[in-house]
Amino acid sequence: MAILFCSSLDPAGRWREALARELPHLETRIYPDIGDPGTIDYALVWAPPPGLLAALPRLKLIASIGAGVDHILADPSVPRHVPIVRLVDPATTRLMSEYVLAQTLRLHRQDLLYEAQQRAGIWQWHEQPDPAERRVGILGLGRLGTDAATRLKANGFDIAGWSRTGKTLDGIACFSGGEGFDALLRRSDILICLLPLTAATENILDRRAFDHLPRGASVVNVARGRHLVDADLLEALDSGQLAYAILDVFREEPLPPDHPFWRHSRIVVTPHVAGAAEVRTAAPIIADAIRRAEAGLPLRDVVDPERGY
Ligand code: NAP
Ligand code: GLV
Repeated sequence: MAILFCSSLDPAGRWREALARELPHLETRIYPDIGDPGTIDYALVWAPPPGLLAALPRLKLIASIGAGVDHILADPSVPRHVPIVRLVDPATTRLMSEYVLAQTLRLHRQDLLYEAQQRAGIWQWHEQPDPAERRVGILGLGRLGTDAATRLKANGFDIAGWSRTGKTLDGIACFSGGEGFDALLRRSDILICLLPLTAATENILDRRAFDHLPRGASVVNVARGRHLVDADLLEALDSGQLAYAILDVFREEPLPPDHPFWRHSRIVVTPHVAGAAEVRTAAPIIADAIRRAEAGLPLRDVVDPERGY
């Protein structure tokens, strides 16, 4: 019995060591050295090549090395009868909330404006609103969105969130559906995207969405690059409709060297680090999922392929 590890981003050697400690009875094979495909029971993957998972006849479980599963479901040949579990790791949640809080505070305290002023040698004071006057809207109220909302709320911001199904969260204005989307946008000085990438959420950060935001709002995208229509963002920044964009994820990663985002004075680029998976904390969670699959116990954090997350 073997686990297939396939990711060009994650440290294969460290994963093999961690899995050997957690599951000593299983061999870990690192793609492309997969050996006999008929002896692989479990696959631990980030963006596997199309067709790879379909070519494993004994596969019992697919585990995502990440909270998102768009990188798996993008392959139409992924066997529908094999359960997919996603990585739900409290350490990732903490990292993500820390990133969201840090960037929100940076926007709230006008850091990017003062940085630009420093570069130009300008000594100028700007009025500083109270956090309670700063309306933050969070797209996605799942594991990550809810935690980020709670952390921001604890820092005094006026928080609202949007989800597919309706929610009730203490002290957080909750919206859902198409009308709810527009209502959330209208009251968001800072818009944070923490949605999964699905057919319904692709290109959701477009000109229409930006036009519904208050003039001078800012956008933080920590979900996936394909939520964002790059050209619409550039246009909204250039027209003054948006003040800043803080982006951790991109349509193409690494962001190509000639992409205009790199050099835009009001765009901040980070290299997909907001909530990156850590072997140390993620391996025990993945091992637990495999043990559950081996024992025939109910799996946790199973993805609904029809819903796309
Ligand atoms: P999650 O727990 O599945 O939550 C997803 C949320 O989005 C839910 O509230 C869901 O609504 C909502 N949603 C889904 N489709 C929607 C739609 N069509 N309209 C409105 N709301 C919709 O996911 P998560 O763990 O919070 O992770 C979110 C995403 O963050 C991941 O999919 C991944 O792409 C991204 N991520 C990025 C990084 C990074 O380092 N940048 C790290 C980790 C994750 P319901 O509650 O009604 O289902
Ligand atoms: C990272 O992007 C993840 O999906 O966990």
